[in-house]
Amino acid sequence: MKIHSVSFEDKMRILEFDFKTLRNFEKINNDLEKDILSRGDEQNKKTNVKAMMTSWQMADQFKSFQDLLKVIVIHVLPKYDNLEIVSGGNAKIIATGMWGAIYRKGDYTIEHNHIGSQYSFVYYVKSEKDAAPIIFTSPGKIELKPCTGNLLLWDGRYNHMVPEHISDNPRIIVAGNLNWQLPDKRKYV
Ligand SMILES: [Fe+2]
Repeated sequence: MKIHSVSFEDKMRILEFDFKTLRNFEKINNDLEKDILSRGDEQNKKTNVKAMMTSWQMADQFKSFQDLLKVIVIHVLPKYDNLEIVSGGNAKIIATGMWGAIYRKGDYTIEHNHIGSQYSFVYYVKSEKDAAPIIFTSPGKIELKPCTGNLLLWDGRYNHMVPEHISDNPRIIVAGNLNWQLPDKRKYV
């Protein structure tokens, strides 16, 4: 039985922000690379990311991750949602996870999404021209080339993957999830 007989064309919303425009870009970027390298692999390729990957909670320990997060929440997030209609009400955004990864030749990420997270992002700490792209596969399909200093932010429900990285140059990223802090559900049931 076909329940939804009406559908419309639309486009996915993926926001791109260039951190190279920031005054302290070099410092944040260098510190992120140093901090990711200092932790090395902590996941043993057991997650969707089949590359060197740090712990899920780097923002708890590293100022560089906190600095990046601050820019994302204060300067990038307001551009994603259209705040021109009605905006207001004090609310809290929390980073439920934030990690680093280094893709070397042969590394990749299998298709997945971050359902349960309102927003997801990737920041490219180091990415040469020949680096593997990120491919969004659902609800629409788009392939985006990474670029050092760029950040992509999207709806956490979008499916995405990274095909095999075939370059000798490492592809270094920070990724994470953001959520509104909502009241404890248990109080209302
Ligand atoms: Fe992801």
